[in-house]
Amino acid sequence: SGASSFDISTLTKQTGHTTLDYGFVNTASTKSRITYIDGDQGILRYRGYPIEQLAANSTYLEVAWLLIHGELPTADELAEFDERVRRHTLLHEDLKHFFSALPHTAHPMSVLSSALSALSTYYENGQDPKDPEQVEMTTIRLLAKLPVIAAYAHKKSQGQAFLYPDNSLSFVDNFLRLNFGNLAEQYEVNPVLSQALERLLILHEDHEQNASTSTVRLVGSTGANLYASISAGINALSGPLHGGANEAVLEMLGRIQESGEGVARFVERVKNKEDGVKLMGFGHRVYKNYDPRAKIVKESATAVLDSLGIEDPLLDLAQELEQIALEDDYFKERRLYPNVDFYTGVIYKAMGFPTRMFTVLFAIGRLPGWIAHWREMNQDPQTKIGRPHQLYIGEGEREFPQR
Ligand code: ACO
Repeated sequence: SGASSFDISTLTKQTGHTTLDYGFVNTASTKSRITYIDGDQGILRYRGYPIEQLAANSTYLEVAWLLIHGELPTADELAEFDERVRRHTLLHEDLKHFFSALPHTAHPMSVLSSALSALSTYYENGQDPKDPEQVEMTTIRLLAKLPVIAAYAHKKSQGQAFLYPDNSLSFVDNFLRLNFGNLAEQYEVNPVLSQALERLLILHEDHEQNASTSTVRLVGSTGANLYASISAGINALSGPLHGGANEAVLEMLGRIQESGEGVARFVERVKNKEDGVKLMGFGHRVYKNYDPRAKIVKESATAVLDSLGIEDPLLDLAQELEQIALEDDYFKERRLYPNVDFYTGVIYKAMGFPTRMFTVLFAIGRLPGWIAHWREMNQDPQTKIGRPHQLYIGEGEREFPQR
């Protein structure tokens, strides 16, 4: 008879498997020393350090070192790391032709993942996952070049000329200049933007086994190189239920504003699950309490807009939405709170980034975490190729018809 007539317990007995876990809600895929999350209490720590302390006191590159190497760098180690990353920001001149082949309407996330795959073709002799020096070199190259590729994706979408990196600038200042500078004028970095972006990048650096990091690990478990694994991670991040949510939040706020339906009516539609509409930037698989990153982002949003003298009605709208949702039983019962993506878009918009760049910024932030996990996995003697099982529910054996 067809296997479709079997129930789950028969199937699990028949195949010798005991777990069917859609979305890996209850399955650990690995042990890890990198990031600790307590979703009930809203705690996030990288290598033991609370996210609040890192966001207030550290830099993107220092946290990257911490995630990858397990300890904070000494002053000398950090200086050398920073200097190496600065030295590798240039892209091969030929790679620029790659951007010319794409339409200016291309989504920057597609540009990012495909340009990263293209980047790997320039370093084919340096990608052995088992060679520590090659892995370190690739780590530096990725940290240095991904932001440049991201800025070129942005410039391309605007029809503007690419700038060469200015390696006298810090990581974040260089990135801001590559995005917002032009060939005709000297670019003045605004320290408020620079500090806010540094903080946002730190908040995004790792989040243990989320969908994109699990993707990086799964791809890496096959022995695929770091470029291939990170490129896959970028694609996983692009979805609206994951990193794409920051873009989706701003689109949602824009639609509420344009339609004039009002926040309360929109929330009703979410609760009634009309057309599957969700409150984007709300809810999290792990946090069943306020996302600790969202708290920091919310403070930054107000600070950045105030210091730039911007009054954005979308921030008011977001605050109104949050207020209504936090007091509503639907959200309370399901323990749905703002996640990191809820307020980031408002800040990125104030900085001048177009909506379609938001998830690209998330990818730059998450890169060190992806690298740290890929390296941890490759050093773990217990690592096996990732290969989930399935429970087959299709037809039993049948004869191909006589013709
Ligand atoms: N708006 C309205 N209802 C929601 C939302 C939301 N944002 N999130 C969850 N729910 C509801 C679900 O409909 C479900 O309700 P039900 O029990 O009546 O069926 C219940 O809450 C449980 O939700 P699940 O989808 O089962 O939770 P899961 O852990 O699978 O999903 C996720 C988590 C994907 C983040 C979800 O909350 C969501 O889609 N949020 C909006 C997208 C978003 O902001 N993603 C960013 C995540 S953070 C990140 O990637 C950085």
